[in-house]
Amino acid sequence: MSCDRILVTAKQLESVVSGLAEEIAAAYRNLDNIVALVMLDGARYFAKDLLANLDFPVEVVFIKASSYGSRTSSCGRVRIGASADLTNQIRGKHVLVIDDIYDTGLTLATLLNRLRDYQPQSIRTCVLLEKAIEHTQKIPIDFRGLIIEDAFVIGYGLDFDGRYRDLPFIASFSPKHACSAKNAHGA
Ligand code: XMP
Repeated sequence: MSCDRILVTAKQLESVVSGLAEEIAAAYRNLDNIVALVMLDGARYFAKDLLANLDFPVEVVFIKASSYGSRTSSCGRVRIGASADLTNQIRGKHVLVIDDIYDTGLTLATLLNRLRDYQPQSIRTCVLLEKAIEHTQKIPIDFRGLIIEDAFVIGYGLDFDGRYRDLPFIASFSPKHACSAKNAHGA
């Protein structure tokens, strides 16, 4: 790969995701009314693989949250796009929030605050990655894949300006290295 450093390989991701699925299965297997709340767009790839590893039914709800735009550091504002149906989808249910990365924590904090208004039976959080930083907002993470260094990362759903989501691995990325998708794929 010519412009970024791979932090988590595709093979590592596979084993991290299946490990997380085992933990989640142990926690939820005997419960009914489970809703996976998947944060778009970044957690879409991760959630698809994670949920495919579970052997019991889970309702899936997608929720749009954005704080980054086309930059590589949080803008400090979070927009949550809640659907009109969210009350019915969440009230009385066991909600598992699935996000790609716990960075500053602003996005998850905003979402969790909002979710409590919908009176779920329980809320737990699952993130693929957590950055090893002092988080602006401390969030209880119930299921965590990997702790990574403080770098902007792309791949496996994570993007820069809408690009690089489809990389099968996680790589660090610096905009000054902004490269063609061809290079990022290691071509
Ligand atoms: P916060 O800072 O609110 O971030 O915890 C949560 C959301 O911001 C996005 N994010 C990133 N996206 N590379 C990305 O492509 C990163 O290094 C990164 N850090 C944060 C992501 O959508 C996450 O859910």
